[in-house]
Amino acid sequence: MPTPRGRVLLAEPRGFCAGVDRAIEIVERALEIHGAPVYVRKQIVHNEHVVRELEERGAVFVDSESEVPEGAVCIFSAHGVSPQVRTNAASRQLNVIDATCPLVSKVHQEARRFARDERTLLLIGHADHEEIEGTYGEAPDRTLIVEDADEARRIELPEGTNAAFLTQTTLSVDDTSEIVDILRERFPGIVGAGSEDICYASQNRQNAIKAIAVESDFVLVIGSANSSNSVRMVEVAEALGTPGKLLPSVELLDPAWLEGVQTVGVSSGASAPEVLVEQVVARLAELGYGEVDSVVTAKENVVFRPPAGLERSKTDEDGTPGDTVAGDAHVADAAAGEEAAGDAAPAAGLGEATSRLLTRATARIEDLLAAERKKWGDVDDRMTQPIDAIAHLVAAGGKRLRPTFCISGYLAAGGELDGSDAEEAVASAGAALELLHAFALIHDDVMDNSPTRRGRPTAHMKHAGIHTEQGWAGEPRRYGEGVAIIAGDLAFGYAHTVTETLSGPARKVWNHLGTEMIVGQQLDMALAAELAPDPALARYVAVCKSGQYTIHRPLALGATIAGRDDLHAAFETYGVAAGEAFQLRDDLLDAFGDPEVTGKPAGLDISEHKMNLLLALAATKDAEVARLVADGQNWNAAALHEALLASGMREEVEKRIDELVETAHKSLEKAPLAPGWRERLGEMAVQVAYRDR
Ligand code: IPE
Ligand code: IPE
Ligand code: MG
Ligand code: MG
Ligand code: MG
Repeated sequence: MPTPRGRVLLAEPRGFCAGVDRAIEIVERALEIHGAPVYVRKQIVHNEHVVRELEERGAVFVDSESEVPEGAVCIFSAHGVSPQVRTNAASRQLNVIDATCPLVSKVHQEARRFARDERTLLLIGHADHEEIEGTYGEAPDRTLIVEDADEARRIELPEGTNAAFLTQTTLSVDDTSEIVDILRERFPGIVGAGSEDICYASQNRQNAIKAIAVESDFVLVIGSANSSNSVRMVEVAEALGTPGKLLPSVELLDPAWLEGVQTVGVSSGASAPEVLVEQVVARLAELGYGEVDSVVTAKENVVFRPPAGLERSKTDEDGTPGDTVAGDAHVADAAAGEEAAGDAAPAAGLGEATSRLLTRATARIEDLLAAERKKWGDVDDRMTQPIDAIAHLVAAGGKRLRPTFCISGYLAAGGELDGSDAEEAVASAGAALELLHAFALIHDDVMDNSPTRRGRPTAHMKHAGIHTEQGWAGEPRRYGEGVAIIAGDLAFGYAHTVTETLSGPARKVWNHLGTEMIVGQQLDMALAAELAPDPALARYVAVCKSGQYTIHRPLALGATIAGRDDLHAAFETYGVAAGEAFQLRDDLLDAFGDPEVTGKPAGLDISEHKMNLLLALAATKDAEVARLVADGQNWNAAALHEALLASGMREEVEKRIDELVETAHKSLEKAPLAPGWRERLGEMAVQVAYRDR
């Protein structure tokens, strides 16, 4: 027994944060799925112990994506990367898996927004840290790095500069607020998120170390030398007058540090595994510090799930024989992956509960279609073709946004998973929404003359092709469109069949949302036919034909099923804003997106004269676009595309999307939602607004 010399005070929270947990899990899952080697660009998290362990399991850590063999798996570390790195990885055809912490991605998104607003970005952080390299890369031409208060005092901006500030997520809260105060005083119009960019984990660990520092004679922070948040923790303790040391591993503990020390404070940085803490505590016991007390300053329950692509089991579960389900539950997973904060159980369970209900909704569609197929196939095989067209579309995947929002509305409203009628009803409502969506898509593709959907030929194209191949009588196109009309009608009918069990108030929401979308489609067609560019009307069309039935109404339906009419106002503001953002993104993806990713053609809206916000704004603000639109008889889609790009209206629409996301976020601030759902719905708005498919 060593002679007792004093005690240990353990800080809590300490150690792994949600972003680090997720990043490590991503590497582990990638190794399981792809086998060794998988390449990781930079240290996955700044901890040698973690890196060594993953190396032993087959991860290969490289400094640059250029070192990764073409086509191989390349994981981006938790600290994030610049767009230049993404481009380089894409040009080398790397199979990229992104382990960037969702809270770092949020800062990148803010950087892009400020840059689009033509602001000069003052990026507070350490120039040589990977996170700052990544964020800086979002707008290198308009970003200046501010490392400390002195630099904040010295930095000069030309008169009239519009500035914004952003911060690294792992800084000291106190130092940063000093820097921000200086910047605000020197540049009064500056905008920024305050110290809110500093992540919850850094803030909590700093608060906890402060609490133990005041009671300790010396503190040890377990973490590696390149771990920014760990280094900051030592500084925070020292700022309170308590000497401290960063301790990468137990062997480096020098007993001389403990001379005259009675109370040793111990904590660990966000990338340091708990096993290292255990080793240090054991060593301290050998040195006479056997008594251990904890000081708890907060409870953390934040969980970030890995991206959807790593969840093998879901695709396997939902795939129908011969058809792969591409991306089912995509948004449910992605949203859960981005951020879920709240009580432990709900936070961990949000994505899981949503996925479970979503799987039930999909199964309900499959069962219904299989039964219908059997019923009519027994009469005459030809009658099953439109049923198969629906099944084919559903099996092709899609983001399942409408059922996801409906289920989310139900769960956010506190709806129970208890086998009750309400739970049954929400699964049916989810199925109905996806069937209604199938109806809308099949008809929309006829109206819009679209050849592909979800990466496959559209129903009308496929059946026109069969007509041609078989040499049947009549016009192939009319036959194909006929099959599509019938398939759409059937999907509409089936959607209503599955809503039979909905209660009165829920049926009211349901009936309205279908009609609203249909008449919205009429307005969309009419404006295209009349070549009528009207920005205000274009925005209304986006909401009416698409945003409402995609986000607002499904959320309202879910809340109604849960018996929570009090949420309608908040869900309306959120849903209308996020819904418009969703459709504006759809319009931008049509004009500038990648058909390989969207599964739909590019440039179709222009060739079909769609007077969406992009074109309507350009036609009312840009002389060249106005001229081309006015010349409707000689519609020149290629010239219009060029002119649209040059008009700068793409940026205008991006700005509108940013505003809408902000409105959606604000609407949730005071809404009485079940734990974790404010964050979750907030992330879902970001997800639909900034998607690439
Ligand atoms: C496409 O909807 C039709 C619109 C309302 C813009 P989605 O973008 O949700 O398409 P899927 O369901 O993922 O295929
Ligand atoms: C369609 O809008 C809205 C509905 C399907 C009701 P779009 O015509 O823009 O949808 P996509 O781009 O074809 O999916
Ligand atoms: Mg359309
Ligand atoms: Mg369309
Ligand atoms: Mg579209």
